[in-house]
Amino acid sequence: NGGISTTRCNAVSSRAEVSELADIDWDNIGFGLKPTDYMYVMKCNIDGEFSNGELQRFGNIEVSPSAGVLNYGQGLFEGLKAYRKKDGSNILLFRPEENAIRMRNGAERMCMPAPTIEQFVEAVKKTVLANKRWVPPSGKGSLYVRPLLMGTGAVLGLAPAPEYTFLIYVSPVGNYFKEGVAPINLIVESEFHRATPGGTGGVKTIGNYAAVLKAQSIAKAKGYSDVLYLDCVYNRFLEEVSSCNIFIVKDNVISTPEIKGTILPGITRKSIIDVARTQGFQVEERNVTVDELLEADEVFCTGTAVVVSPVGSITYKGKRVSYGEGTFGTVSKQLYTVLTSLQMGLSEDNMKWTVNL
Ligand code: COI
Repeated sequence: NGGISTTRCNAVSSRAEVSELADIDWDNIGFGLKPTDYMYVMKCNIDGEFSNGELQRFGNIEVSPSAGVLNYGQGLFEGLKAYRKKDGSNILLFRPEENAIRMRNGAERMCMPAPTIEQFVEAVKKTVLANKRWVPPSGKGSLYVRPLLMGTGAVLGLAPAPEYTFLIYVSPVGNYFKEGVAPINLIVESEFHRATPGGTGGVKTIGNYAAVLKAQSIAKAKGYSDVLYLDCVYNRFLEEVSSCNIFIVKDNVISTPEIKGTILPGITRKSIIDVARTQGFQVEERNVTVDELLEADEVFCTGTAVVVSPVGSITYKGKRVSYGEGTFGTVSKQLYTVLTSLQMGLSEDNMKWTVNL
């Protein structure tokens, strides 16, 4: 059996015993793994149907050294967040069905079976509720939910794995970048590329993220927050940052690279476009050149982990361009406030994006 084995437990009875909030320093959570109480594990049968998912104690998993995910990178991940409402009454999930759909699209590209949308959302709800005490108090951060889909069956020759595991774990998180909500400094990368036409850049496969580590570590060693990638054909059009999508603002028009197979279809990206349009902004999804980037009034990034992150400077071929006064730009601040108020339950959710737990 090339599958995964873990320690089972009776999640429900143990849950009653835990105190209301985990005992950690909620003012300094950052973005690193904090092991929580439970994870969710569901396997699929030979027909590619997932069933019998269950909560298990969070812990290490055991897989065959020959697992498809370890040998050939047959794996996908997702990311979404749960927020505790200010009055403590509820927990809000942000658009979990969008992650389910994206995982299903990615699975199709990676020749993997995937849980149904209902199974995915149900599993996320169960995992968040089982780890309720790890959802930060309102205003201190969120519970980051990380679903994984992995080829855990054993393979040797290159082929789709014969067995798959869907697993969800969670961790309380604060700001993604060490800058917090202060603007980040990006370097435009023209040697390394993140994705190619016809490749897997448009799905959330684990290999896309391994591919950026080299450029990212070189950039970080030079003091940059992260790397902005260009298209691999012309080396001229913006693609995305290692962990998030990119937007520019010029004369109050918001532009972002269009989704064309090499860019991850971010759920925060899509939400920000909708929020911006409802706020009266013109938003264009199109090819955006690096020259336009350098001449923009404002630049910002979006992603589940980074939320909306202002960009303070861009360095391209040794030239550094700065934006703003070391704070959020006016447009990005407005969009950030509208989106996060909705996500945290501080404003009415007219978009019907949040799911109450
Ligand atoms: C997210 O924003 O949720 C992601 O999956 C990006 C990851 C590199 C943290």
